[in-house]
Order: sequence, then structure tokens, then C-alpha cells
Amino acid sequence: MSDITMNDVMTQELVEKKYNLYLTTINDALGRCFSKQSPATLYAPAKYILEGNGKRIRPFLALLASEAVCGSSTDALKVALAVEILHNFTLIHDDIMDQAELRHGRPTVHKKWNTNAAILSGDMMIAYAYELALQSKSKRHSELVHILNDANITICEGQALDMELEERHDATIADYIDMIAKKTGRLISAALEAGGVAGNGTDEQLQSLVLFGEKIGRAFQIQDDYLDIMAENGKSGKMAGGDIINGKKTYLLLRSLELTTGTERDLLHSIIINKGIGAERVPEVKAIYERCGVLEETASLINQTTEEALTAIEELPYAEGREHLRGFANILMKRDF
Ligand code: IPE
Ligand code: IPE
Ligand code: MG
Ligand code: MG
Ligand code: MG
Repeated sequence: MSDITMNDVMTQELVEKKYNLYLTTINDALGRCFSKQSPATLYAPAKYILEGNGKRIRPFLALLASEAVCGSSTDALKVALAVEILHNFTLIHDDIMDQAELRHGRPTVHKKWNTNAAILSGDMMIAYAYELALQSKSKRHSELVHILNDANITICEGQALDMELEERHDATIADYIDMIAKKTGRLISAALEAGGVAGNGTDEQLQSLVLFGEKIGRAFQIQDDYLDIMAENGKSGKMAGGDIINGKKTYLLLRSLELTTGTERDLLHSIIINKGIGAERVPEVKAIYERCGVLEETASLINQTTEEALTAIEELPYAEGREHLRGFANILMKRDF
């Protein structure tokens, strides 16, 4: 093993250690949110989604971003929590839009309660997130609010584009890349940017963090699409093949349309024309993906995008935070849930 690989392995182990440590801090703090009992149909769903087995990627990135610009994450915790709560609001509403029945291996909020309760709890969580951001020790509150607003509006744009793509027969891979930058990339880059502001980073440092976030956000959503159909049984905690059933324009679908011919391409094309396919036909689609080479291409795209991310933050001043960000990007690239 070369020195570089050895270093990578060591960083990876340290990152995992830090991730597990911070996971406890983040989950403990989230557990203290939404403690009001009444109205139960408003607060219980918020508590419920936060008790799910979320990976807490965004708050972890926010804390590391702060460490990379100032050497400490103490002042970034409230901001990190705000971002995670915003993220969970988007999950509740996304599950309504995607008619998803499972999240974290449990019934989605709109299935356990009802759609109105899910909409309302999500709405309340947005305001709650802003309150937390405003409680942050940072003096740069207006910048924090501006970042959260921009992320919020951009996610809505991304989700709107996601719906519009479902209806379109002419969607390109470029359309897909633009859509995922908005629905997923921006909140990840905002987590890093807001963490950087909490750590009192400079404009230049914030720009590097945003670029890093955009790249890992892109890799992350492509991987999410991949895992939607390829995750080992039950590991994603979501219904396997949901994207195909709903006729979602994912990288896998759009690229495999270019890689196939004849009856295979006809089947994939029918998903586009019919805006989805019966759940019983998911294994056929999966078999086409396995045959046509799209899985290898997807893996190398995730790899390449992550590599690009790593170069974006080379100049950040605090080595430990910076190397942990880079190590975490590598861990995310290999995730299987
Ligand atoms: C799911 O995000 C939504 C996407 C943007 C793909 P995560 O995969 O980070 O969800 P949790 O927080 O771990 O549940
Ligand atoms: C997630 O996209 C985007 C947001 C939650 C804003 P997906 O619809 O692919 O996310 P999952 O797979 O349901 O988590
Ligand atoms: Mg979804
Ligand atoms: Mg969705
Ligand atoms: Mg998905």
C-alpha cells in the first residue's frame, strides 16, 4: 500500500470516528426539538420523521465546514440543526409528491397520519428551522437567513422541475443535471455555506465550500437514483424501484435509453410514454440496467464528480476540518444505503 493510500485509510477511519461522535450530538439536539405535545397532529409528525434513521449528512457537513474555516464547530450546531430540519421538511413533502409509502423503513408521514397533517407539519418545520438559525451565536444572521431562503426556493424549483420532467418525453441528461443541482445540490451546498458563515469564513472560503457542495450534491443524488433500484433488499428504507414505477427521469433511465436498442429500449421508452410502469416489471428494468453498462458508467460518474469536489477545498485553512470534509466525500461516494 502506498503512503497516500495509507493516509486515505487513516483519514477515513478518523472521519468515521468523528461522524459517529457528531451523530450523537446532532441526534440528541434534534431529540429536544418539537417537544410541545399539542396539537399532536402538528408536532408528532415532526418528531417522528426526526426519529427515523436519517444519515445526518447535511448537519455533519455544516459542522465540518465551520471547522475547516475556523478550527471549531461550537458555534455552528444551531445552524447545522436548522439545515437538517429543513431537509426533513423537504422529505415529508417529497414523499407526498412521490406517493412514497416508506421512509427509513417506516410508513411515511402522510401514510401514518394524512396528507394535510404532513403538509402542515412540514410548513411548521420551516419556521422552526429559521428560529434555530437565528439562535446561532454567529453575528451574521442575515447571511444565514439569506442562505436558507435561497436553498429553500431552489429546492422548490428543483422539485417543480422534477415534476415537469415526469411529464416530458424529450428530457436530456443536461435537464436532469440541472434539476438535481436544484432539488438536492443546493441544500448540501447551503449546509456547507451556512456552516462556513457560522465559522466566520471569508467570501472566498464560502465559494470553495459551495463548489464542493455542488459537486458532492450531484454525486449524492446520482447515487440516490442508483440505490433506488440497486440497494440491497430493504437497506435504503424506501420502496425499491419507486423511481421506475413513478416514471422518474433518473440518470440511469436517461443514459440507458442511449445505451440500448430494440426491445430493451422499447421497454425503457414505454416508462417515459406511460409515465411509469407496474411494480411487477421492475426486475426486467433492473436486468436491462445490469446488461447495458449504465451501472459502470454511473459509478464512474459518481467517482469523477467526487474527485472534482475534492479539489475545490484544497485551500481551506484548517487541515483537520478540510481533510475530514474530503474523507467524508469519499465515504459518501461508496455508500450503499
Ligand atoms: C434523501 O436525502 C433525499 C435526497 C436528496 C436524495 P438523504 O439520503 O440524505 O436522507 P436521510 O436524511 O439520510 O434520510
Ligand atoms: C429528493 O429526491 C429531493 C428532495 C427531498 C428535495 P428523491 O425523491 O429522489 O428523494 P428520495 O429518494 O425520496 O429520498
Ligand atoms: Mg422521493
Ligand atoms: Mg422526489
Ligand atoms: Mg430517490
